[in-house]
Order: sequence, then C-alpha cells, then structure tokens
Amino acid sequence: MESYKYDLVITNGICVTASDIASYDVAVKDEKVVLLAPSGSLAKANARRVIDAEGGYVTPGGVDCHVHLEEPALFGRGSSSDTYETGTRSAIAGGCTTIVGFAPQPKSEPSLLSALAQTHVRARGNSYCDYGFHLLVGNPSQQALEELETLSRDEGVTSLKIYMTYTALQLRDDQILSVLLKARQNKIFTMIHAENGDVLNWLTDQLEAQKLFDPKYHSHSRPPILEAEATNRAIALSSLISNTPILLVHVSDPGATLRIRQAQTSGQPIYAETCPQYLFLTRDDLDHPGFEGAKCVCSPPPRDKASQETIWTGLRNGTFAVLSSDHCPFNYDDAEKGKKTCISDEFPVGRFKEIPNGIPGVETRLPLVFSAGRLPLTKVVEVVSTNPAKLYGLYPRKGALIPGVSDADIVVWYPESKKPNLTITNSMLHHATDYTPYEGRKVGNWPRYTILRGKVVWDRDNGGVVGDKSYGQFLKRGPSTLDGLWETVEEQGPFDVASL
Ligand SMILES: *[C@@H]1O[C@H](CO)[C@@H](O)[C@H](O)[C@H]1NC(C)=O
Ligand SMILES: *[C@@H]1O[C@H](CO)[C@@H](O)[C@H](O)[C@H]1NC(C)=O
Repeated sequence: MESYKYDLVITNGICVTASDIASYDVAVKDEKVVLLAPSGSLAKANARRVIDAEGGYVTPGGVDCHVHLEEPALFGRGSSSDTYETGTRSAIAGGCTTIVGFAPQPKSEPSLLSALAQTHVRARGNSYCDYGFHLLVGNPSQQALEELETLSRDEGVTSLKIYMTYTALQLRDDQILSVLLKARQNKIFTMIHAENGDVLNWLTDQLEAQKLFDPKYHSHSRPPILEAEATNRAIALSSLISNTPILLVHVSDPGATLRIRQAQTSGQPIYAETCPQYLFLTRDDLDHPGFEGAKCVCSPPPRDKASQETIWTGLRNGTFAVLSSDHCPFNYDDAEKGKKTCISDEFPVGRFKEIPNGIPGVETRLPLVFSAGRLPLTKVVEVVSTNPAKLYGLYPRKGALIPGVSDADIVVWYPESKKPNLTITNSMLHHATDYTPYEGRKVGNWPRYTILRGKVVWDRDNGGVVGDKSYGQFLKRGPSTLDGLWETVEEQGPFDVASL
C-alpha cells in the first residue's frame, strides 16, 4: 500500500479565517489540518489528493447552530419536510460542515434525557455533516432541571433553548428563572426565543375578529414591540440571576437590537443571533396574492428595509455574535404536513395563525452572506463559523484552520474567473422542501468543494453531493468559550437571592 505524507492538499487558495486573509496551501492528514504552507509550495507534495483552488477563497466550514430537523409536531399543524438525512445533505452543499439541531422536549415529557435519546436515534447514521444538539426545554420539571448536570457533564449537551411564545412551549417568567439558575450552575448556555406570546395571541384574536386571515397578517400579529419587550424581559431575568449568559435567537427588530447593545455596553453577558431572513427578506415578502406569502412566514417575521440595515450594522459591529439559518422547513404545496394545512373551504387563503412557522435556509446561508459584499470576509467567517464554534463549545476543533488542532472542515469557493451561473432556484438545492424563499436571487459565489474531516463531501462540478450519510459524527460539546464567559460567571460567584 502506497503511503502518502498527506491525505489532501489544497493549493493556490486564499485562506480566510476570522482574523486573517492570506495565501496558503493547506495540508490535511488523519482528518485534521496539519500544515499551512506558503502558497504553491505543496502543489507537488506527496498527497493522496490535491485540489487546486485556482486563487479562490478557502474558509473553515460553516457551523450552523440553529437548525430544526425532523422534530415531532409540537406546534399543532405541520411537520418538518427535512429529515436529518436531507437537511444535512443540504447543509454540506451550502458549505456547512457542522450543525447543532434541537432535541425537543414536549410539555408532556418530564425528562430531557429521554428527549435527547429519541433525537439521537433520528440523527445517528443519517447525517452528512457533524452534528450536536441543544435541548429544547418545553417542560422544566424538577426532573428536567436535575438532568442538566448529566447533560453537560456526560452527554456533551451544553446549551438549551427556551421559548417566551408558542402555547405548546411557552415558559412563564418564574420557569425561565428556574432554568437560568440551573443552567448557570451547570455551565449550560441558554438560548431564548423572545416574543411576547400572550400579546401576540391577543392581537391574533383581534385580527381574526375582523376576518383578516391572509398570510401577511402574520406580521401584524407580531409587531416589533413584542420582540423588543420580550428581549428586554429576558435581559432583566438574566440580570436577576447574577448575570447568567443568554443568547437572544433570531433577532429581527431594531428596538430589540438597541436593548441588546445597551446591555452589552453595560457589561452584561448578553449575546445575540440573527439570520439571513432578516437581511434579505422584508414583510412585503409575506404580502403576495393568494397564499404565496406563506412561503416567508417565520417568527419573528421579516421586518422592513430600515430594519435590515440596522441588522447589517449590528453584524458588522459585533452586536450579533452569530448568523444562523434557523432552518425550519415545511413544504409549501402540502395540505397534510406543510404550509397548506391551514387552507380549507372556510379559509381559502389560509388562516395565518395556523401556518406552520419557519423557512428553509441551511444551504443558502453561506452563499448569501459571503457574496452580499456587505461585510469584510473575516467578519463573515467569524459570524458563520468561528463564533458559533466558540459559543457552543466546539472551538478550536471547529470554526478554525489551526494546524494540529482543527478538524479539516473546509470550503473552497470559486475563483472570480470560474464563477458559474448563480441564480438560486429550488431545483439546485438539496433539501427535501418544495421551495426556497430566495428563488431567483443572484448570488456572487457558491461552495465549489466542501470538505468534512479531510473528506470531500461536496464537489459541485463532479458529482455534487459525494459524501455519505453515515459519515457525520455526533459532537460532544464543552462549555462555551466565547469571551471567556464562564470564567466571568465564576468570578461573580453563585447566585445569592439575599444579595438582591
Ligand atoms: C452597532 O450596531 C447597532 C445596530 O445597528 C447600533 O444600535 C449601535 O449603535 C452600533 N454601535 C456602534 C458602537 O456602532
Ligand atoms: C442562469 O440560470 C437561470 C435560472 O436557472 C436561467 O433562467 C438563466 O437563463 C441562466 N443564465 C445563463 C446565462 O445561463
């Protein structure tokens, strides 16, 4: 058997990391990046495979820490159009090598460990990319809270998500406090969906009383103030529990953004995520004839042009640590499990309150933001890869190209001279969903190769998806390392109610 010095070499690329843009050749051995060498110097190295990047960019693989796949129907109507298999296939075709999905605990289920075990079964052997899980806590029972220790210590699950909305999942403020306290004690990072559920239910009833049912009223039922109010409340609750670190997920509204920025400026450990839908869609995308607008129904809803600008600015200046997809796909033309479940003789254009909430986006996240030309490329890598890896305890194994340390998770982009026709159409995507909200949009570049632990899993010009669904591994995650946030928590000592 011939022995190679390297398993893979990528030559003539321009490497972009969160801190640097420079021309290097990258050598890979045993699933790791092992060497960054002067450009061109490894072109003739003894390697099993050499990829000539031809001057294209080479970046760490995307890390998407907000991906819903194959979750049981917790919200009533509709269920995910993507399984672990199809969702992760879509991920690698868009340059994403790691996802963190959700292990959902319904209100009827007292245990988190049981919810986790069921999710493992769905993902195991069915994932094209590496993956981890956040616990989605629907029922913070005594048992669930006690299990947090096992989750972080033994199961490699160091984050959870809670909801301030959705009847099936909404927690009361006292329940949120209980979760934050236990999460703090176990170095578990808490993600919060901040919209005021009671207010939106009331507004929904008002709209329905006026017979306003079209998809566009989804946006009227969830105005920005609802997000800003809940964001403010989440920040207040975190501060009560001795500044327990939290992340506000999918922030869309300038008011919420401002409140987050103020909290950060005053030294609170408040982190924020936004998503492509708040950079590229607006509420007008919900206002199409008939039911068409349902394709862009997600929560919070896309806002206006001015809000998009605020979100871009917040990404650029660090208010948002991460850009995730919130991939949460439902088929459009599907009356059994998809968006059209809410259409009936009585409601011919549907009933907005029953449209399954969510849109697909795991495959388009990197290409959209990478080619938008709105952020420095180092910043793009930081928010789509490096910061998510740090925040969710995967760094520097993921989110970096550090020799000897980082997994060889790499995206090679097209050089200027070789860019293909890049108009997004649903037919070119690899999810199992029958539409994309970005149909017809031009993008400036696309991953040419996606490499996961040294193996080419996506080769756009030669075979497309060439990885296989048994290659993705479950990732046991450690505590978050972004900004040394748990060190700060430790310095502050335990929560003491008598000190309030
Ligand atoms: C950062 O961006 C946010 C959101 O656009 C904005 O509110 C804030 O003023 C900006 N901060 C700085 C220091 O530029
Ligand atoms: C590019 O792709 C779009 C969508 O598939 C198609 O309509 C258009 O004709 C293509 N353009 C070229 C130059 O091939």
